[in-house]
This record gives sequence, C-alpha cells and structure tokens, in this order.
Amino acid sequence: MSLQDTLTDQERLAELGLDELRRLVGLVDHDPATDPFPVTGWDAVVWAVGNATQAAHFYESAFGMRVVAYAGPETGRRDHKAYVLESGAVRFVLLGAVDPASRVADHHRRHGDGVVDIALEVPDVDRCVEHARREGATVLEEPHDVSDEHGTVRRAAIATYGETRHSLVDRSRYDGPYLPGFVARESTLVRPPGAPKRLFQALDHVVGNVELGRMDEWVGFYRRVMGFTNMAEFIGDDIATDYSALMSKVVASGNHRVKFPLNEPAVARRKSQIDEYLEFYGGPGAQHLALATNDIVGTVDAMAAAGIEFLPTPASYYEDPALRARIGEVRVPVEELQARGILVDRDEDGYLLQIFTRPTGDRPTVFFELIERHGSLGFGKGNFQALFEAIEREQARRGNF
Ligand SMILES: [Fe+2]
Repeated sequence: MSLQDTLTDQERLAELGLDELRRLVGLVDHDPATDPFPVTGWDAVVWAVGNATQAAHFYESAFGMRVVAYAGPETGRRDHKAYVLESGAVRFVLLGAVDPASRVADHHRRHGDGVVDIALEVPDVDRCVEHARREGATVLEEPHDVSDEHGTVRRAAIATYGETRHSLVDRSRYDGPYLPGFVARESTLVRPPGAPKRLFQALDHVVGNVELGRMDEWVGFYRRVMGFTNMAEFIGDDIATDYSALMSKVVASGNHRVKFPLNEPAVARRKSQIDEYLEFYGGPGAQHLALATNDIVGTVDAMAAAGIEFLPTPASYYEDPALRARIGEVRVPVEELQARGILVDRDEDGYLLQIFTRPTGDRPTVFFELIERHGSLGFGKGNFQALFEAIEREQARRGNF
C-alpha cells in the first residue's frame, strides 16, 4: 500500500503527512483487509443548528474555518440550507431549516444545536452495512449511489446513540466540493493580514454521552457492529468529585483516526455534568469534539481574541508541586499555559496539552476541546479531577448543580 493510499482526500488536500498525523491524532498502522468494518477516517461532522447562516460565520470568524460548499433553496434544496466548512482535514456541515416543516427544525427544537451525524469515510459501504446488519445495527439508509457531474458517491447510514447517526461514505469515485447537490462556495470573510492559515488540522475524537447504565452496551455496539477496539484509558469511580461523577471508556477504529470516548453519568449526590447534558439535549448525543492543533497557544489566543470562552483553570492547578513533578518538561513554559488555562497530562508515552471551551450554543450541551499531542495517546485522565471541579463551578453558575 503506497503512502498516498493511507491518507484521506481531506488530509492530502490539507497537506498533512502520515508522520504529522501520528503525532497529531495518534494514527497507527492497520491492515483493513483483516477488519470486518474497515474505517478510513472521519468524513464530516453534520450539525443541526438554529441558524446555519450565522453559525457558518461563527465557525469562520472564531474557529478559522473556511466555507467551501453550500446547498439551499438557490440550488434546489427547498427544505434547509447546508454550509460545508473545512479546517485542515476537519469538515463540518451546518444544517439550518428554511421550511418550518423541515426535519432540521424538529431536531433543533428537541436538541438545540447539536451533532446529527458523525459521518465516516469507509472503503466499502456495502461490506460495512452487511456486517452491521448481521450484528444487529439499525440501518437507516441502505447503500445507494448519488451522482452528479463530479462523479458518484456511495453511501449508507446506521443509527448510533440517541438521534445520532453514522453515515458511511465512499467518495473514492467523486471529486466535487462535498456531495452531489452541493455547489462550491468561497468564503466572503476577509481575514486580517498575517492571520494564521488555520487554527486546527484534524479531528481527534468525538465524545458521546449515553444514558445511565448503558455505556458498556454502547462500547459493545462499537466493538461488535463496527469492529472498534477498546483503548487503554478508562475512567471509573476513582475519578469523581465529591458530588458528581462519570464513567468513561474509549473505543477506536483500527487505525485510531476515529476515537469515541463514551460517557455515562455515575450515581452521585448531585446532578452530574452528564445528567445536565442528557436533560438539556433531551437524551444521548455528542458531548464534545476534540480538535487537534500543533500550536495550542496560538490557537487559544486567536479563538479567545474572537470571543470564544474557555473553561478557567484555578491557579492552584499550576502551583501544585505534584502536578509540576508529574508533567515534567513540556514545550511551553508553565506560565504561558497558566495565562491561558491550558491543561497538561503525561503518561508513559509522552504528554498532551488540552483546553475546553464553554458550551458554544444556548444549551449547556456541546462544547469543544483543543488538543496538542506530544506522544501521549490518552485523553487527559490526569486532568479530570481539576476539570470536573471547573465544570461544576460552571453548572452552579447556571443553577443546575
Ligand atoms: Fe476529550
């Protein structure tokens, strides 16, 4: 298999290399021939939002993404508008209802702004669906071709937690801007001179919040239906504040490009952050998306200047001698991390830098993480305690604690 074959189109277009992806998102070698449900990587994260026209502007101006494609009433899509944005290998699709009877409007009323589809690129849609069906998955869309003058995309969709789906997309015979029905569109946002080309390069992981007592069921779903494997890191009762807790396990695709931590609330004295999510989202859904950057300091500065709010980290976190001893030498001086509230975690493989935004919509549901990996393949387990305490202070501010 040539080096080119192992990059996705998006990664090639973003001029990302295999070595860079190993570092950015922990990509590992994997033989798809032995995989019952081979997954190449992420295809797109599709959102239903209250106002896609304005959300597109938000992701452009504050997240440094670029609009690349569009579908809507002007292109024959009467029901809703869809904006496609990219940053490196990350693709977001924002759906907003035009027709009040649109299913996008129903979804938004039930869930608020949220992820409807975590679409995955697969080399063989039919083989994946056949395997998924045999393992009991709900097939929402049978494999079918969609074509236009740019070629043909084969796609299908299976259901996952809540009202979330996984579209399975094979775009190897397609060279259009996104999917048939979309037209290329250029960003109209004028960036200041000297602005960075992009603020993040790749999607690292998408976390799902599921119902109390159902985490192992969903871990089993990903293992059985999609051939995913457990990653070592898991969070149990040992990681909890006095009041609220969660349990978490991580499953990953064979090449580790696609990683899904799954959280469930743990029984606690107070309402946990997962309970708050489940209440306000109206059930299970995607909790946070981790965006991989190779310059977290520059990214945080650019996003903060554009008005993005990050969870504050207490000074005590950085002054803790045990933490200083544990994290050792990192690329950025601790003072620089502290000035921005960036967290550090280290394990036997290396370290990572991470920071979390406040929820980016009206409801206390979905938010983002920025992550800069230096060898560590973890998810910041060492930071969970400090992080939970920060999240609980935020919950209390909202009156949900
Ligand atoms: Fe995360």
